[in-house]
Amino acid sequence: MCGIVGVLGHHEAAPILVEALKRLEYRGYDSAGIATVENGALDRRRAVGKLVNLSDLLVHEPLAGKSGIGHTRWATHGAPSVYNCHPHQAGPVAVVHNGIIENFRELREELSAAGYGFTTETDTETIALLTQMYMEAGDAPVDAAHKTLAKLDGAFALAFLFEGEEDLIVAARKGSPLAIGHGDGEMFVGSDAIALAPLTDEITYLEEGDSAVLTRTSLEIRNADGALANRAKKKIAIDSAQVDKGGYKHFMAKEIAEQPTVIGEAISHYLTQDGTDIALPAEIDFTKIDRLTMVACGTAFYACMTAKYWFEQLAQLPVEIDVASEFRYRDPVITKDTAALFVSQSGETADTLAALRYCEGKAEQILSVVNVATSSIARESDVALPILAGTEIGVASTKAFTCQLTVLLILALKAAKDRGTIEDSRYQELLTELRALPGIMNHALTIEAVTEKISRKLAEARDILFLGRGVMYPLAHEGALKLKEISYIHAEAYASGELKHGPIALIDKKVPVVVLAPRDGLFDKTVSNMQEVMARNGKVLLISDSKGLMEGGEGTWEAIAMPDADPVLTPILYAIPAQLLAYHTAVSKGTDVDQPRNLAKSVTVE
Ligand code: AGP
Repeated sequence: MCGIVGVLGHHEAAPILVEALKRLEYRGYDSAGIATVENGALDRRRAVGKLVNLSDLLVHEPLAGKSGIGHTRWATHGAPSVYNCHPHQAGPVAVVHNGIIENFRELREELSAAGYGFTTETDTETIALLTQMYMEAGDAPVDAAHKTLAKLDGAFALAFLFEGEEDLIVAARKGSPLAIGHGDGEMFVGSDAIALAPLTDEITYLEEGDSAVLTRTSLEIRNADGALANRAKKKIAIDSAQVDKGGYKHFMAKEIAEQPTVIGEAISHYLTQDGTDIALPAEIDFTKIDRLTMVACGTAFYACMTAKYWFEQLAQLPVEIDVASEFRYRDPVITKDTAALFVSQSGETADTLAALRYCEGKAEQILSVVNVATSSIARESDVALPILAGTEIGVASTKAFTCQLTVLLILALKAAKDRGTIEDSRYQELLTELRALPGIMNHALTIEAVTEKISRKLAEARDILFLGRGVMYPLAHEGALKLKEISYIHAEAYASGELKHGPIALIDKKVPVVVLAPRDGLFDKTVSNMQEVMARNGKVLLISDSKGLMEGGEGTWEAIAMPDADPVLTPILYAIPAQLLAYHTAVSKGTDVDQPRNLAKSVTVE
């Protein structure tokens, strides 16, 4: 999604803005631009494509000034083109925007009637024009910006820069996150703290409905009612190594490799020191609820889908799962005996946040499983459980997925214990297995060479199917999502048993079928489905443990041998081959692995 930066500094703003925008690249974008004010005059440079194009333009057409705003755009209204690029300027004001202005058509009509014309297809241009209109009517820049904000419906994070004002930025947040960075006689604004990491570690997060007036030495924040608001200044620890590829070719490769470490950290965080019990950071009493509703998007939804099996099988707790974009509009019935649980890496996904707000006042408790501890979803939950994956930069989620699964499994075990549905010996056995998981994950990573070899063949396919049963069914979905996201190969997932109800018609010798099947209680049934595929010349890639490959591997096209693990833990472990296959297939195809086309890391619009 779009990224915003702003600087009121002591040095030339253009290179600082471009560097800050680089740190927002991970969010996904298709064009970029900056504006500065120098000797009272506003000027801007904008370019389509990667930031390098904007940097090249700045070499030929430099932009002077120590105050500026910048933007990476992920197109919503209007194609990626220079004229649709931000900052949008209208007379004395330039604006950068993340989000969607829902009433932009009405605003356009109002502006047209007032004699203002349009040069872009964007919703953002209406913001710049409204501010210009108020300033032309005599309002001071800050008042004009506030009057404009009052007219906007929808979701936004905004930064305004004004002609003749070299010590002023107005910023606002409604729906999309925005952080203010405090420097030494300097002030910054950014979509997140990562953008500002080398500039400052002192951050103030704007809250819903806040607007802020920044100068180099002051910050005045007003809440949605216009009253002065006190927002805490926090020290943020962002390890610059976390936003570095650390010698890997891609962030995704680094993040896949980090999984044993980060999962180990998550496990130690949620277990007692001796590892024999679960110690949650806040009270969650699963005897008080009769039902769990889990809501998320994309990969986080597949984590919920997996957790449904765990909560139901281990804790006998009825679970409802839904994708947030459907949940929020279908008037779901949330009874008082329900806990609502939201899973999100970024903690800013617009649909998931809206679903959470729908449950406020209805559910017994609002829980979240998040990676970004300062995010809106974390802040608005009764209990936020961090997954401790560290910064995830690759658009394709990997370590956040396995950390989400780890935390959800721990929660399911806690629920089972609270509800008395698990024998103590089995509880201890699973905690022991959990503690051993990072080691087993390390072992699993040794399959990289074989996945690379197989991926070269997968890269030639036009369609690929993923099959799984039980806890492997959600993982089949995750494997297919990973592959399509970064390799652009069409991939679909099916429950193995569903194959004969239609999808088997797709099978022929050109369609690889990835079967995720550890030697668990459902293995024989999956092997039967696999035989049905092979009988129709389907090319099966079987991913199983040594026993599974021995019993079911005959006649398969390819196979990947996984280490043994307790069947409960296999979704976490088998995520590794699913991720590596997607990664190496994408590398073989030469796609942009970390910033795949059309995708954004943090989806802050619905
Ligand atoms: C994962 O690979 C995707 N890029 C995407 O599906 C993601 O999981 C989804 O947008 C949800 O994001 P969140 O976890 O930040 O809420």
